[in-house]
Amino acid sequence: MKYAVKLGGSAIAPKDIAYIAREDVIARLAQELARSGEQCLVVHGGGSFGHAAATEHGMISGALDGPKAREAFSNIHRAMERLNAAVMDGLLNAGIPAVAVPPAAVCTLENGRIVAFDEEPVRFLVEGGMTPVLFGDVVQDRAQGFAIVSGDQLLAYLAPNLGIGRAVLCSDVDGVYTTDPRTDPGARRIDILTPETLALVEAGGSAASDVTGGMRGKLDELLPLARVGVESLVIDANTPGALERALGGSTDEGTFIPVIT
Ligand code: IPE
Repeated sequence: MKYAVKLGGSAIAPKDIAYIAREDVIARLAQELARSGEQCLVVHGGGSFGHAAATEHGMISGALDGPKAREAFSNIHRAMERLNAAVMDGLLNAGIPAVAVPPAAVCTLENGRIVAFDEEPVRFLVEGGMTPVLFGDVVQDRAQGFAIVSGDQLLAYLAPNLGIGRAVLCSDVDGVYTTDPRTDPGARRIDILTPETLALVEAGGSAASDVTGGMRGKLDELLPLARVGVESLVIDANTPGALERALGGSTDEGTFIPVIT
């Protein structure tokens, strides 16, 4: 399998409108994926679903030691299932044989990092020519009880194990900028991101509510990936054709993160 595709939560469910999935954007991205003819691992973020549910319940991690914690765990997971249903509808309507693999059922964290993952269901789907779909989720954490795993961490964990060579991240901006381009007119896009050019990216990242670290958190996952032989491309989900071109091998759009040798 050559490609992993992350459908950024902010692109498919913008964080400023709670619990609304951009079905038009999902449908177009799914069609581009189908047209590329590539079998991909698909991972999607939480957008307004995961992040609003996490904020509403006031808990993004903790022991399952009372009704409040249990309610947070089940409701955040349920919100993610609702967004996942919209993504699955888009993929299936585009003719992609996709199957959701809920991280809550297969993934374990320790202090927020993945320490165990039952890959067998994912490998079964890949070998059968299917498209596994994972998403940012609430999962068991051996140290904290439960915690949120981001789609980016899931992608970074699975991509090397599945022999993936390129991760394509569909974002709500056309790449990685020095500062937030939505608020700072002086923001500059970094066309090729390396450990050296990373120094130009201001810490902080995504302006909207984000419980998993915004753009900076994304880069913290992507650079280690580059070190183990997986290149990445951050593209604009709202530019028609960009995903299809990225799955055709192009590096001309967005921010390219080459393999670090
Ligand atoms: C967050 O996933 C999932 C939850 C908050 C439950 P991500 O961190 O991958 O989501 P986005 O892409 O930033 O929205």
